[in-house]
Amino acid sequence: MNKKIVEITDLTEQGQGVARGEDGKVFFIKNGLPQEKVEVAIKKDKKKFALGEATSFLSTSKERQEPFCPHYKICGGCNLQHLKYKSTLEYKSKWIVDTFKKIANLTIKAPTIEGMETPYNYRNKVVFHGKYYKGDYILGFNEKNSNFLFKVKVCHLIPKAFMEIKETLETLCYHHHIFPDDVMIKTNGKDYLLYLNILNSYPYEDMRKLIHSMLEAYPAIKGISHRLQIGAELETITMALNNFNYEVNSKSFFQVNTKEAEVLYDKLEKMIEPLAINTLYDLYCGVGSIGIYLAHKVNQVYGIEAVAESIKMAKKNATLNNIQNIGFHLGNVEISLAYLTDDDSCVLLDPPRGGVEEAVIEHLLTLKPKYILYVGCDLGKAARDIKRFTEDGDYAVSSVDGVDMFPWTGHVETVVLLSKLHTDHHINVTLEMDDLDLTATKISAPWKNVNRVDRKSEIKF
Ligand SMILES: C[S@@+](CC[C@H](N)C(=O)[O-])C[C@H]1O[C@@H](n2cnc3c(N)ncnc32)[C@H](O)[C@@H]1O
Repeated sequence: MNKKIVEITDLTEQGQGVARGEDGKVFFIKNGLPQEKVEVAIKKDKKKFALGEATSFLSTSKERQEPFCPHYKICGGCNLQHLKYKSTLEYKSKWIVDTFKKIANLTIKAPTIEGMETPYNYRNKVVFHGKYYKGDYILGFNEKNSNFLFKVKVCHLIPKAFMEIKETLETLCYHHHIFPDDVMIKTNGKDYLLYLNILNSYPYEDMRKLIHSMLEAYPAIKGISHRLQIGAELETITMALNNFNYEVNSKSFFQVNTKEAEVLYDKLEKMIEPLAINTLYDLYCGVGSIGIYLAHKVNQVYGIEAVAESIKMAKKNATLNNIQNIGFHLGNVEISLAYLTDDDSCVLLDPPRGGVEEAVIEHLLTLKPKYILYVGCDLGKAARDIKRFTEDGDYAVSSVDGVDMFPWTGHVETVVLLSKLHTDHHINVTLEMDDLDLTATKISAPWKNVNRVDRKSEIKF
């Protein structure tokens, strides 16, 4: 195998060290950190770049730490456990600066990323993927960049109870011969909701027995829903963010990190307070959490959301929190834009990972609200969308902030405030450029032999 000694100078969001050869060739090095000199075993060698793994260390970074999870090397979840937490925040800030420069051609001040005091067991939701194979059933996580599932024994990002629920469910599924393709668990720290995504059809009576025995094993589970339940009233749990309460069900979106969601919403509140705007449009509003939180800072809030269950929850949540100056509309943002009429407004965009649809951006560039407040969980997509708002001089970036919603992963929640520029009279210039406290009843599983399985092909094992 081809080996090479390199000095690492940068880090990718996937947690790989980056080194540059004399000829400009870029090396992406698994388990390598900046300020380290390492010997790399090259696994893929192309003309302009090479992929490899650090096999021995001539010097190590003082920012390096021992990963705390036994699955770290293979699990597709975390990328940054070999780096001290404080450093992960510094890199997230750098990635925001670099991405805005590269994609949006904007030079911004490095934001301070609001991190967590205890960045463990922070997720209020998890999805385990399931696979029945040769007499065994696995509920696990995907391996890094692969279709393989591995059996999860421990995960430090989720509450311990999620693992207990998973293990009990694995056993009960095996006993009842029902094998969910995915299992989602949500919690508010006290109550739990489960959603079983089951693509096969199973006898109704077997389903009923599985759900009944799971509810008996874990009384803290408030409801178990599944894909084939159409039109059924779904159980809800109440999530609290500071003084606000939100009912959510298994189908509605809610920020996965409750503590950091409070940090994010407080930040948004501080940001809109001095703007003294009339209307806040909360686009992609989910169960109405942001709009409800900010309603006392504006005259009127309108929320738009595509999922009917979420809009139903949003209306309930407005009542639950005694908020009267808010209205919700069910529909896709891109075809519900006619509701946006007030240009003395702030449009809050909190889109899914794919970012904001072009039709929405075009409409906003026509309506020209005073402010656009962008909350993005995908940095590249956020930079792409910010570029559209700023490239013709319609908006300027007033501030960029970051919240560490997903510690130990390469993701960062990015918050950008855009202010309308006074461009009523301007010349168009075209530039050509090249360039879930459980009383756990633990049930043992005698059949637990499978540790790893390919979800798609079932060929390799
Ligand atoms: C990142 S979540 C934000 C939810 C909410 N703002 C919160 O903080 O809880 C994105 C939301 O957009 C919704 N969504 C996705 N595509 C949509 C579309 N085209 N039109 C309206 N809503 C959409 C999803 O159902 C989800 O609730």
